[in-house]
Amino acid sequence: MARSKNFFNLVAGNWKMNPPTKDEARSLVGRVELGLVGLPRGGVEVVFCPPYVYLPVIQHIVHFGKLGAQNIAAEPDGPHTGEISPAQLRQFQAEYVIIGHSERRELGENDDVINKKLRLALANKLKPILCVGWGAKQGMPGAQLKHLLLRQLRGALRGVKFAKLTISIAYEPAWAISRGPGTAKRVNPKHAGEICRWIGTQFPKARGLYGGSLDAKNVGGFAAQPGIRGGLVGGASLLPGDFLKIAESFGQ
Ligand code: PGA
Repeated sequence: MARSKNFFNLVAGNWKMNPPTKDEARSLVGRVELGLVGLPRGGVEVVFCPPYVYLPVIQHIVHFGKLGAQNIAAEPDGPHTGEISPAQLRQFQAEYVIIGHSERRELGENDDVINKKLRLALANKLKPILCVGWGAKQGMPGAQLKHLLLRQLRGALRGVKFAKLTISIAYEPAWAISRGPGTAKRVNPKHAGEICRWIGTQFPKARGLYGGSLDAKNVGGFAAQPGIRGGLVGGASLLPGDFLKIAESFGQ
C-alpha cells in the first residue's frame, strides 16, 4: 500500500538466543545487508536485535540497517549481576531496545519494571519497542483484550512523555508467538490491524507494530492493514530471504 514519505515503518528482527555462533551472526547480517542494498528504501527502517554478545561482532557490518537489543537493565548502574545498562549498550551503536517482551514477562518482569526500563531507555536516547499482549488468549473477546492491553500500556508508559516515533508499540498476542521452526500460528491480519489501529487512537505519537508468527508468506496481509506500521519478527528474522521480504512488504 502507498505510505506517506513523512514516516518510516519499522521492521525489527528479534533473534532471541540465536544463532549459536558469532560466525553465523556475521553471515546473517551480511546477507540481509546485501539484500538491503537493492531494496527501495525511504519507507522502512530495518533493525537487528541480536543477543548482546554479538553486538560488537556485527556493529561494523551494519550499514543500511540499525542495531538494537532485546532487553536492558532497569537501573543505570550498580550491583546488578548479569544486567546490561543503556549506556553500555550505546557504545555498540544500539539505537533501539525491545522492552516488555512476553518471554521476559514470563520470567516475572512486571509493568513497574517495564516502566523503569522504558524511562531509562528514553533518558539514554534509546528508542523502545514496547511489547504488549502477554496474557492474551486466542479468541479473547475484544473488550477483554483491550482492557488487558490498556493496563499493560498504561503501566509501561506511566509518566512517560514522548515525541513522535521515539516509541514503537508492538502488539504481540502471546499465543501467536512461534516457539521455533514449524510452530507458527495463524493470526487474522484484520484482527491485528484493528488492534494496532486502536492502539494508535490511544497513543497517537507511537508507531504500532504487529508481532507473532510473521513470515514471508503471511506478511502481505499484515502490511496491507493501514494501522500496522511494521513488524517485530522472531523466527523469520533468522532467514535472510524471508526477513528481507518482510522488510520489503512494509517498505512499499
Ligand atoms: P515469532 O516471534 O515471529 O517467531 O513468532 C516474534 C517475537 O517473539 O517477537
